[in-house]
Amino acid sequence: MADTLTITDNRTGRRYEVPVAAGAIRALDLRQIRTAPDDPGLVSYDPGFQNTAACRSRITYVDGARGELLYRGYPIEQLAEHSTFLETAYLLLAGELPGADTLRAWTREIVHHEMLHVKVKTLMGGFHDDAHPMGIFLSTMGALATFYPDARDVFDEGSRRLQILRIVAKAPTIAACAYRHLRGLPYVDPDNTLSYTGNFLNMLFRMTEVKYQPHAVLERALDVLFILHADHEQNCSTSTMRAIGSAHADPYTALAGAAGALSGPLHGGANEAALRMLAEIGSPARVPAFLRRVKTGDVRLAGFGHRIYTVCDPRAAIIKRMADLVFAVTGTDPLLEVALELERLAGEDDYFVSRHLYPNVDFYSGLIYQAMGFPPEMFPVLFAVPRTVGWLAQWEEMLLDPEQRIARPRQVYTGAARRDYVPRDKRKQEA
Ligand code: ACO
Repeated sequence: MADTLTITDNRTGRRYEVPVAAGAIRALDLRQIRTAPDDPGLVSYDPGFQNTAACRSRITYVDGARGELLYRGYPIEQLAEHSTFLETAYLLLAGELPGADTLRAWTREIVHHEMLHVKVKTLMGGFHDDAHPMGIFLSTMGALATFYPDARDVFDEGSRRLQILRIVAKAPTIAACAYRHLRGLPYVDPDNTLSYTGNFLNMLFRMTEVKYQPHAVLERALDVLFILHADHEQNCSTSTMRAIGSAHADPYTALAGAAGALSGPLHGGANEAALRMLAEIGSPARVPAFLRRVKTGDVRLAGFGHRIYTVCDPRAAIIKRMADLVFAVTGTDPLLEVALELERLAGEDDYFVSRHLYPNVDFYSGLIYQAMGFPPEMFPVLFAVPRTVGWLAQWEEMLLDPEQRIARPRQVYTGAARRDYVPRDKRKQEA
């Protein structure tokens, strides 16, 4: 059987045969389908890119029907169990798990780049006291482009590698400074003797201790959460990273745009929205009334639903287990009962089941973050820090892909046909 698709255009009666490769046809093959010589050709209309593959990628695989997530082929469950965030970051960026020496060298290089230029801190100090930390995070990331002009040379391998190190290393430092800014606390410098997430906790929460010692359970929980958030193929923020990068902008600028996309409540801002929603519901007894409001279209369930996953989000199951470990240290959050009741009742209701609405990665993560002492405004930032790795891996893959072009979608124009300019005194008066 040939790997082709035969299309009959009933407008003209013509037949076309287009190749099918790896389950895809090329959209450009549709352009030959015309009704007249001046017809620009058929396009596919796909708002929200619901069924359009914009790239070939070797990084992350999501099987929505099976609830499966693989980084470079490795199941997320195994990485969450056995790996560390920095090792997973190396895997996503380099394609293979590092050997012991490589991992040591990679860790040393990251640690070396964790500090911020003193003027970056001055810049951050200029934000309003109540500035949202996600706004501080993405603005500071964008501003780093002015500190590292060598980043503009996106086709220089050495420069790319250096910017990747800088971004992965400085993301937690910027995030911690954004948090300290919110709290009115002085910034804390990195401690090179701690792990990536241990040091992050140090920069966030250290007060007057001579040496900050992170709690081992909380340090590991944060590391696992970071592994779960490191990449998720062509989601909204990653597509933004690729789109900006496709114009050959430097990675700091592209990353600021990606973080902007992530901040939206339909994407990485959903963890903040989920926690606020659980607080608004307040008690398990009030869940049925809230679900009735959702069903009338009055509100959306934050932290529920996913474009790709139709049976479950495998990250949500791991996070739910992590919550038990964290709560054993911090004490249980009463909102957990609300969350569990919400998940239970939605799982029994055909409205939610028929629409494949299950908890996603953002539903339980906010409860863990709150238990660890983070205010809700910090939740999207905690998503952005590990996602820098996925954004950078996808950005570099895009740059090195000879098939990629500047991102420039087509449109179906539905506006006015050509018409002549009307002088102001000849226009209809507004009522
Ligand atoms: N609560 C209530 N109803 C919902 C929800 C929700 N969270 N999500 C989808 N629906 C309903 C829609 O109303 C629609 O119903 P209809 O067919 O009767 O009109 C149907 O389910 C399909 O919804 P769409 O919005 O078309 O689905 P889409 O794939 O475009 O959206 C999204 C996916 C944005 C994740 C959506 O489920 C949502 O808004 N969820 C809440 C926000 C959220 O948690 N985002 C985080 C996603 S994960 C991440 O970014 C890391």
